[in-house]
Amino acid sequence: MAIDEITQKVSDRYARAASTGEQMCCPTSYDFADLKSFIPEEVLKISYGCGTPAGLKTVSHGETVLDIGSGGGIDCFEASRLVGPTGRVIGIDMTDTMLAIARKNAPLVATNLGYPMSNVEFRKGMADAIPVIDGAIDLIISNCVINLAPDKRKVFREMFRVAKPGGRFTISDIVADQPVPQYLVHDTDKWGDCLSGALTLTDYIAGMVGAGFLGIHLIKSSPWQVIDGIHFFSVTLTGYKLPANTPVSTVRYATLRGPFSRVVDELGTTYLRGIPQPITAETVCLLSQAPLAAQFVLSPDPLWLDRADDRWSAVYPIDAPCTWSGHFAILAGPFVEAADDDHHVYHRGEPLEICSKTLNVLEAGGYAPHFAIINRAGQSVSANSVTCAPNGGCC
Ligand SMILES: C[S@@+](CC[C@H](N)C(=O)[O-])C[C@H]1O[C@@H](n2cnc3c(N)ncnc32)[C@H](O)[C@@H]1O
Repeated sequence: MAIDEITQKVSDRYARAASTGEQMCCPTSYDFADLKSFIPEEVLKISYGCGTPAGLKTVSHGETVLDIGSGGGIDCFEASRLVGPTGRVIGIDMTDTMLAIARKNAPLVATNLGYPMSNVEFRKGMADAIPVIDGAIDLIISNCVINLAPDKRKVFREMFRVAKPGGRFTISDIVADQPVPQYLVHDTDKWGDCLSGALTLTDYIAGMVGAGFLGIHLIKSSPWQVIDGIHFFSVTLTGYKLPANTPVSTVRYATLRGPFSRVVDELGTTYLRGIPQPITAETVCLLSQAPLAAQFVLSPDPLWLDRADDRWSAVYPIDAPCTWSGHFAILAGPFVEAADDDHHVYHRGEPLEICSKTLNVLEAGGYAPHFAIINRAGQSVSANSVTCAPNGGCC
C-alpha cells in the first residue's frame, strides 16, 4: 500500500470510531473512575491507547507537554491536570473528527480542574511533520500512534527536533517480537488495529537512537495479541535528548553495581560489575539519567566494589533442575547488551529463550524493570525437569 493510502485509511478508521464510539485497541490500565472526575464521558469513550504515558508519574508541574496523535484528548487532559495551570499541553492529530471532540471538551476540563482557562491546545498535524517549533517541548507523550505512521524514522526525527535539550519522551506503543510479514503489512484493517505497522522492539529503539535519543528504557510492557505466532505487545518507553552542553562535573569513573555482571551502554562503553571504568563527560551525563544512575557509582577517582559492599548486587539462580515452558526474555534497555551471572547475554530487543530458573532471576527486583517477558509456547508443553550443567547451572 502507498503511504498516502495507509494514512487515509487510518484516518478514516479513527474518524469512524470517534463518531460511533466503538471499542478499539488495547487495555490501558487507566483509572477511569479517577479520570471521570474531570474528563467528560465523550472523551473517555474514545480512548484508544495501549498504555498510560501521562499517568506514570512522568509529567511534572509547569512543563510543556506534546501529545502525538492525541485522539479525543484523554492523555492531554491528564497531562493538563499534572502540569497545573502554569504548564502547557499541545495535542496534535491528523483526524478532524477527533480534533473536534477534543477541542469541544477542553474548556469543560479546564472548568472541572478550576483553571481560569484551558492550558491545552489541539493542532491539526502529522506525526512526521509536527506543527511545533524546534526545542519547545519538555516531555513528548504518545499513546498507540507511532505504529500507525508509515514513516517512523521521520516521526522519531521530528520528536527529537521539537524536544528541548534536556527534554524526554514517554511513549506507549505496540511492538512485535519479530518482523511483521508482508501479508499483514498490506492488510488494511490490521493497520487500524495497531498491528500492521508494528516494528520489532529492536527497530523501534534503533529508530529512537538514530534520531539522537539516549537512555532508552522500559517503563512497562503487557501482552496484546498473538497472530500467526507473532507476539504483539504494548511497551511504554522513556528516553532523553541530552543537554546540548554537558554540565561541568568532577566525575571521571563509573563502577557498575549489578545485578548485571557486564553491560554495554548506548555510547559503546563496556562496564564489568565492581570495576571502575573511565568515562567521558557525555557518558557522565548519560549515566546521570534515571534509571542508569541507580546502576552505577559515579566517582572522581577509581572506585572498586566487592560483594561485601552494600552497593554491590547480584541475583543467582537456585541450585535445582530447569524446566522449559516457552518463556523468552527481551532486554528493553537502558543497555544495548547485558550479561547475568549464569552465562546469558541479552541483546536489546532480541528475544532469548529462558528456563524457569532464569525466569525467577529476571523477575527479581534488580532485573525485572529491564525485561519484557513473552511466552511463545502455542500449545501446552510437558515442562519436564532437566539438569543441564553439573553444578546445577542453567542450560
Ligand atoms: C489509536 S488512536 C490513539 C488516540 C489517543 N492517543 C488515545 O490514547 O486515545 C490513534 C490516533 O492517532 C491519530 N493518528 C494516526 N496516525 C497519525 C499520524 N501519522 N499523524 C497524526 N495523527 C495520527 C489518529 O487520528 C487517532 O486519533
